[in-house]
Amino acid sequence: MNSKPQESPLSTQSDEPLTSISQLVEELKGSPTNEFVSISKKVRLAVSDVSDYATWSTKKYTRNCLEINDRFELILLCWEPGQKTPIHDHGGEECWVYFVNSKFEEIVYKKDALALKEKRRLAILPGSVTYMTDFMGVHSLQNIGDQRGFSIHLYAKPIKSCNVFNQDSEKFELVEMNYDTHIELT
Ligand SMILES: [Fe+2]
Repeated sequence: MNSKPQESPLSTQSDEPLTSISQLVEELKGSPTNEFVSISKKVRLAVSDVSDYATWSTKKYTRNCLEINDRFELILLCWEPGQKTPIHDHGGEECWVYFVNSKFEEIVYKKDALALKEKRRLAILPGSVTYMTDFMGVHSLQNIGDQRGFSIHLYAKPIKSCNVFNQDSEKFELVEMNYDTHIELT
């Protein structure tokens, strides 16, 4: 059989670390989605690179949109010490998280018809990247450090809604996602 090999998209990536939000956004825009994993491993962002985009709330961590287009969404989360997400899924999409500072904990649960079972618990240090997608289960994240924390979340494609566990009813509810701020990068 003489079948033509499928062409893979051209890569525009270099090995250089990504040290600013605008560099990261440009690299993501210019690359196919199957390169997002390698791009996320090149991110080297410090607090000073993200603090201009920060907003804070004592009620809940804030979600600050850095970029949204048809293919992906990039969001800066700003966490007061102790703030955590409810247990949630990812709307059928892929999610990479880069942790800028502080110390975080991820708890992954297996979701079956009757109950949530804790599968693993991970302490996350600055500079780490984690990955989640729905077939791995559902998870929660918490800033367990004693300082304000930053994390950068890349979703491909953007997540319009996801299933969030309601602790009172002990059921998942479909919740629309929203932003606290939507930043226009120049
Ligand atoms: Fe998540």
